[in-house]
Order: sequence, then C-alpha cells, then structure tokens
Amino acid sequence: MLPRRRRARAGLPAAAADRTLPPAALFPQVALYLAERRMGRSRRAFLTRLARAKGFRVLDACSTEVTHVVMENTSAQEAGSWWQRHGAAPNPGCPGPMLLDMSWFTECMAAGQPVPVESRHSLEVVAPGKELVRPVWLSPYACQRPTPLKHHNAFLSDALELLAEAANFEGSEGRSLSFCRAASVLKALPSPVTESSQLQALPHFGEHSCRVIQELLEQGMCEEVESVRHSERYQAMKLFTGVFGVGVKVAAQWFQEGLRTLGDLDKQPHRLNQQQKVGLEHLQDLSTPVCWPDVEALQQLVVGAVNQALPGASVTLTGGFRRGKSQGHDVDFLITHPQDGQEAGLLPAVLQFLKKQDLLLYHQYHRSRCRDAAQLTRHSHSMDAFERSFCVFRLPQSLETAGEKPSQSHPAWKAVRVDLVVAPASQFTFALLGWTGSKHFERELRRFSWKERGLKLNSHGLWDPRQKSFFLVSSEEDVFRHLGLEYLPPEQRNA
Ligand code: CTP
Ligand code: MN
Ligand code: MN
Repeated sequence: MLPRRRRARAGLPAAAADRTLPPAALFPQVALYLAERRMGRSRRAFLTRLARAKGFRVLDACSTEVTHVVMENTSAQEAGSWWQRHGAAPNPGCPGPMLLDMSWFTECMAAGQPVPVESRHSLEVVAPGKELVRPVWLSPYACQRPTPLKHHNAFLSDALELLAEAANFEGSEGRSLSFCRAASVLKALPSPVTESSQLQALPHFGEHSCRVIQELLEQGMCEEVESVRHSERYQAMKLFTGVFGVGVKVAAQWFQEGLRTLGDLDKQPHRLNQQQKVGLEHLQDLSTPVCWPDVEALQQLVVGAVNQALPGASVTLTGGFRRGKSQGHDVDFLITHPQDGQEAGLLPAVLQFLKKQDLLLYHQYHRSRCRDAAQLTRHSHSMDAFERSFCVFRLPQSLETAGEKPSQSHPAWKAVRVDLVVAPASQFTFALLGWTGSKHFERELRRFSWKERGLKLNSHGLWDPRQKSFFLVSSEEDVFRHLGLEYLPPEQRNA
C-alpha cells in the first residue's frame, strides 16, 4: 500500500501504479488490437484498460494473433493500407484480422462480451480524396473519459468557454454549466471536429452549442461570441474579476453602479477591502502566468517553513501544476502530517515563519471549521472546511547576471498567488483528489458519485448514506475503484 500512496502523493504520473494485471481473458477466441492512429495515445490506453477490465484480450502489437483490429474515424481504404504497412503478414491460408469500426468495440463494451460483427461495424468506404467524418461516441460524465491538457479542439472549446464565463457573469449558473459541459466534451475528442454532423452523437450538445460550433466551422468566427467578447459588460466584468479578491457578485455590483475601468476603482479606495487593495496594487504581477521555475522556488520556501513549524509534515503540489499545466494563475500546496491531529493549527506557525523572512505580501487565514470528517462529508457541499490560507507571496527573483542590480525590467521580487491547505492524514487522499481539479472535473466527479452511485463525495471523504458508512482509502485509485470508474491520472483530468 505505502509505495503506491507515496507515488500518488508525489504527484507522479500514475501509469506505473495503474498497471494492474488484467483478469484472465474471458474470450480466448478474440484478440483485439486498438490502432492508435486517429484514436490518440491516451484514449487508446484508456480503452485498452477498459476492455481488459471486462475480460477482453488486448494485444500491444499487431501480431498474427490479432483477430479484430479496431480503428477510429478511418475509412476502409485507409485501414487497408495502414494494415499492409503495420500489420504482421498473415500465416498462409489465414484470412488475417477483421478491420472494424469503433462502433463494434463500443457495443462489445456495453454488452460485456464480443458481439457478432454486422455490416454496420464495417469501416466506411469513401470516394477518394473525400475526408471521412462521422459522429464519435463519448461517455457523458467528464470523470468517465480522459481529458488531456493539449487537445484537438481549442479553437471551438475556447468559444464555448467564453459563453460559459459570460453566463456566469450574468448569474446564469445553469446556462454556464451547459456551455462548460459542451466545451469539456470537445476537449476529450480524439480528433478535430471538422463538420457539425460530428456533434450529433455527442453528449451535452444542445441546440445553442451546436449553432455556435456550426458557425465557427463554416465562417471561422461566431457573431454571438464576438459580440459578447466586445460587450462593455463582459469586458468590465472580466477586468474586475481578474483582480484578486473580486468575485462575480462584487464585480456585477460595481458595474451596476457605473464603474468600468481600474481607474474608476483607484478613485474609490473606500470600496476595496484589504485583499482587493493588494490585488489591485500587484495586478500586473498577479495577472502574469506563474511558471515552473517559480513553482519550484515556492515549493522550496514552503517546505522550509513547514519543516521548521512541524518536522515530519509533508508538502504536495496540487491544482493545475499537478495536472501537468506549464502555467497557472496560482500555485496550490496541500500540507499534511502522517500522524492524524499533529497538523492541527500548523498554518499560523508556517505563515509567521514566512512573514519573518519577508516572503508574504498578504495572507487570509481560515481556521479549520470542523474536524469531524463524517459530519463534513454528509453536510458540506462544494466548499471544504480545511485550515487554509489564500496568500500573495513576495517571491525573490534570481537576477540573470551576477552582480546585476534590480531594475524596472529585472525586479528583485514578484508577487505570486499561493494557496496553502492543511488536511489531516486520514482525509489526505480526498483533499488531494479535490484540490487537483480541474474545477469541472471535480464537479462532474461529485455529480457522478451522487447521481449514478448514490454516494456523497467531497474533499473530506466518500459517504454512503444507505450504509451510513465511510469508505476507507489509501490512494486516489481506491476512490475511483469504489466509484466503479476507470482510474484517471491527474494529467487526464483537464476537463
Ligand atoms: N478548490 C477548492 N476550493 C476552493 C478553491 C479551489 O476545492 N476554495 C479546488 C478546485 O476544485 C480546483 C483546485 O482547487 O480544482 C485548484 O483550483 P485553482 O487554483 O483555482 O485552479 P487550477 O486548476 O489550479 O488552475 P490555475 O492554473 O488557474 O490555478
Ligand atoms: Mn491553481
Ligand atoms: Mn488555487
């Protein structure tokens, strides 16, 4: 148990931890090969695990043993020439494997056994030169499908995310969620959407999202998206909510009162609380993306302070950087101690140590609201109750050439947003899962738990209201297993 837990804590790719041995093949007469072409490596790995978990034999190489080759978005012609180049030469007298469409694989997974091959499972025959486009099938919950950081539809998903953000600015949570879900589906697709007909089979594509995508595909831009982007309201809301400490409600209030620019805010300092004043003062630094060298430097500072405050305590990087992002708006750290209870009240000492070294520009400390995980999992919803601090660090910058003096272009330090969260060891796994994100992934994981499994999940635990019991876990893999989900490593949670 321990090594796997340590791996998960270190935030390392879980590929190694995830390589559980498949159960003995239930259908020895069938040997699958999933072609990576058009499918993508991560989706192929995901589907391979899925099939193996259901007792199918999936081969890693296109050997003579292969009986069924599954391909995605590929025509019969393309598949034939691909197999000639990559497949093993068939034994004399053998017909070679069947080259099949993903639809056959999907039906097999749904049936839990190989289904007979019908004509609808054949790869499409298309006129030469004409690109093949056909609907793709995807699971409805974001936590059921891998979503890599880099995907094929950023141009389209960005547009839907802008509409989601604008709906959120208007307080229309439902509409915002619909756009978010559609955008997230696009991020999980194995290839670029090139025709709106491909959206037909996709979950969460309502009339509105379809219309936006169709316009983008046909005209290269969408009038509604551009008009929202350039609207006075969206621009002001974007500007205000970009300031640390300003949420949608406050920004909307300011807009309603006629404020439009940061200059307007400067003129009304009485409106700003301490956090917002710091946000405004360091706006330039705080709106510059944080990069890996800063993350590493910050980790060192935090580890130093934590070790000093409580020897034996550990610091784990969470948030976007754990998901493999190269940049972020902040850096998220989760702190714990192997002995439950030792971590209580740790943060004030850490903050004091950082302050003494002049490393903190601002911090907002929240005491742990409750220490009873049972109560927390049953009652609290999205916000967790851990001891935490939303900070702005004063991060010293290394000057490039030795002896160089700080200047306008090479300042001696920069302001960086850091979130510090403290969890007891018994809740660590849930806190790690909850703080790794993405936000949409977490939302979907909790929705799936409740709607599909009747279980309550949050950053404190997983609760079964019928059994009135908690699940004991020692790794993120355990949580996925209890929920009956394929494990997704952090880098596939970029929903
Ligand atoms: N989170 C949370 N409670 C909060 C704030 C954040 O549980 N009050 C969790 C969210 O679920 C989110 C994760 O912490 O998934 C990280 O949040 P955040 O830092 O806002 O986003 P990132 O994914 O790290 O992206 P960014 O690069 O913008 O920081
Ligand atoms: Mn973050
Ligand atoms: Mn954060």
